[in-house]
Amino acid sequence: MSQTLTLRRPDDWHLHLRDGAMLRAVLPETTRHFGRAIIMPNLVPPVVSACDALAYRDRIIAARPEGVDFTPLMTLYLTEQTDPADVAAAHASGLVSAVKLYPAGATTNSASGVRDFDKVRGVLEKMAEIGLPLCVHGEVTDAEVDIFDREAVFIDRVLDPVRRATPGLRVVMEHITTANGVDYVKASDRDLGATITTHHLIINRNHILVGGIKPHYYCLPVAKRESHRLALRAAATSGDARFFLGTDSAPHTDALKESACGCAGCFTATNTLSILAHAFEEDGALDRLEGFTSLNGPAFYGLAPNEVRLTLTKHDTPVTYPDKIDTDDGPVTVFDPGFPLFWRVS
Ligand code: DOR
Ligand code: ZN
Repeated sequence: MSQTLTLRRPDDWHLHLRDGAMLRAVLPETTRHFGRAIIMPNLVPPVVSACDALAYRDRIIAARPEGVDFTPLMTLYLTEQTDPADVAAAHASGLVSAVKLYPAGATTNSASGVRDFDKVRGVLEKMAEIGLPLCVHGEVTDAEVDIFDREAVFIDRVLDPVRRATPGLRVVMEHITTANGVDYVKASDRDLGATITTHHLIINRNHILVGGIKPHYYCLPVAKRESHRLALRAAATSGDARFFLGTDSAPHTDALKESACGCAGCFTATNTLSILAHAFEEDGALDRLEGFTSLNGPAFYGLAPNEVRLTLTKHDTPVTYPDKIDTDDGPVTVFDPGFPLFWRVS
């Protein structure tokens, strides 16, 4: 008898879809399993205004495979020029679900992000007033801070002061990678949640660096030491509703990843659910998978969970996924968890 697990259809609370040929190639990988996704605005140029978000949403909808039920939840890229009134209007019309904060220089296409947090105070206050969440890439960018410490330092130097100065601001700490991030979320009694990626539940920094450099495991925030991965696993599988899935699935072509200066990002849209079922089963927490993938995120965003169900079946033989997705820009490598997968979406 094969084992089955039925979940409400999952959502992805942090996703990069890009644009053009890449968008068309990667979108079906997400719509196959997910009902909604928070769409990252770090295009070139970024999605900074309601007008940009509307046009991008139309391009995503046009690229959606025929007949699929998938809703892109749009975000605005916060800059020092962002107009609080534009943000409020975009929220009131239902167009945007969150605003994204990139510290300038923190990651891919973050050059237009925030340098001086005082300059975005008005926007953050408006967001606190209207209940619009701020999605945060939580890393400092100071050259003297070690890359493995950048998340922990961000919490102390930026996130905590911003939250204290802006009561009521709802914040999602995105793609947390440290026990410090987990502890900070757990210590807060309100207005704070965190997304955890699939890959940060599976790899630590050894996977990137031992036995040769593995560019397809390089992402930002970079995976940390094993104790941090275990803290993330414990948080994700704990049932604590403040933690939910945001894959940060981030496609880059192999040419851009396998380079002297490779891009950051792991592409996990294709096999995320098989990997998560494996991880939750390993930790004796299969009964908590639905909370992480399908319930906690909507609850944070004040949305109903999806009504449609999805069934995972555990097979005796490994499930095969393509190694790469073909795009008109070149191949994109699918994240390799490094072990066989037996859970398949049926
Ligand atoms: O690894 C990452 N890739 N981290 C980010 O923050 C951005 C993303 C991308 O856009 O490629
Ligand atoms: Zn991201």
